[in-house]
Amino acid sequence: MRISILGLGLMGQALARTLVGAGHSVTVWNRTEGKADGLGATSVATAAEAIEASPLVIVCVLDYAAVRELLGSVRLDDRVLLNLTNGRPAEARDMVEWVAARGGDYLDGGIMAVPQMIGTPGALILYSGSPTAFERYEEALGALAGPRYLGADAGLAPLYDLAMLTGMYGQIAGFLEAAALIASEKRPVAEFTTELLVPWLTAMAGQQPRMAADIEAGAYVTNVSNLEINQVGMVNLIRAFEEQGVKPDLLLPMRDVLDRRVAAGHGAEGLSSLIEELR
Ligand SMILES: NC(=O)c1ccc[n+]([C@@H]2O[C@H](COP(=O)([O-])OP(=O)(O)OC[C@H]3O[C@@H](n4cnc5c(N)ncnc54)[C@H](OP(=O)(O)O)[C@@H]3O)[C@@H](O)[C@H]2O)c1
Repeated sequence: MRISILGLGLMGQALARTLVGAGHSVTVWNRTEGKADGLGATSVATAAEAIEASPLVIVCVLDYAAVRELLGSVRLDDRVLLNLTNGRPAEARDMVEWVAARGGDYLDGGIMAVPQMIGTPGALILYSGSPTAFERYEEALGALAGPRYLGADAGLAPLYDLAMLTGMYGQIAGFLEAAALIASEKRPVAEFTTELLVPWLTAMAGQQPRMAADIEAGAYVTNVSNLEINQVGMVNLIRAFEEQGVKPDLLLPMRDVLDRRVAAGHGAEGLSSLIEELR
């Protein structure tokens, strides 16, 4: 299959290398020369030439502003533009019209992997936008990562991408605070992380599907630990941080939300009810 790639940063290079390895005929373009060396792809001098070369055009650059800038006023007739650049749902929805006005069909994608993972079983790419475009290229795109199509609304891939990153940042925030607490007593952080924290977090993640069901039902009654118990626990936690000389900066926003929910009279509910303070 003929596939073009616009943007040869770390991710674009990984995409190009993997598609070449899967036997596709890959044409590449990058703003700065010299990034195509050793990829086994055909390098061209302009984005317009790369678009001319293939019916599927993948773009993966810094942001959506760069996507629009590099495409300029080039026509995209009979082309599918697959935008794997990280962006927001509103930006992806705007791109549908923008690409259609140039004669093209639009697919958005969110890469849930680092470049080294592209083409390996752990990689995932979320897709949304034109269903016919996804059906046509699903098999070829499977070489890059496990594909998950979310629907015709192009905003869905960035929405889910950002939601997954949000979960990751929350987990990293908890990890950093826990590590700082352990390090405050000069205890080995690596051993704590591997032997205790990761198994604990894995077990706790098992609670999340039940919490998600509560959220969907809007039913927050709990027989585990209610918000009042958690509020006492949080006071204890913050005091311990102060005594250990560690800043609880990443925990404090959670404490504030917890306090607000209890003050609003929901102390008997479970932690899943905190979502009501975020809506
Ligand atoms: N790296 C990751 O782990 C990862 C994971 C998931 C998603 N992503 C997403 O993938 C996209 C690319 O990331 P990356 O890691 O490849 O970044 P990168 O290594 O910093 O490369 C950035 C690319 O964007 C190009 N670019 C920037 N501004 C441009 C403009 N105005 N016009 C044309 N090209 C422009 C650069 O071209 P020059 O070479 O000319 O500067 C380069 O090809 C980002 O949206 C990122 O969020 C990355």
